[in-house]
Amino acid sequence: MATTIRLRQNGPLIVEGDDVTVLDWNGNPYEVLKRPVALCRCGASTRKPFCDGTHSRIGFAAAEAAVTGSEEKPAT
Ligand code: FES
Repeated sequence: MATTIRLRQNGPLIVEGDDVTVLDWNGNPYEVLKRPVALCRCGASTRKPFCDGTHSRIGFAAAEAAVTGSEEKPAT
């Protein structure tokens, strides 16, 4: 299964795939307890980098949708 990153509306990034590993900046793996992997997008999780559901309680709203012009651009 190819890895897919799906944005939940007003919620986390869902990483779907059979072989997903989450590494910290030193290359050390986090223990992944649930799959698919849900990564916090709101910045308020107490279990970063994983989502803990706090986005719902704080009313996180994200407007990003895949529309023309939203293609990834190289970092500058
Ligand atoms: S996206 Fe769920 S806690 Fe941040």
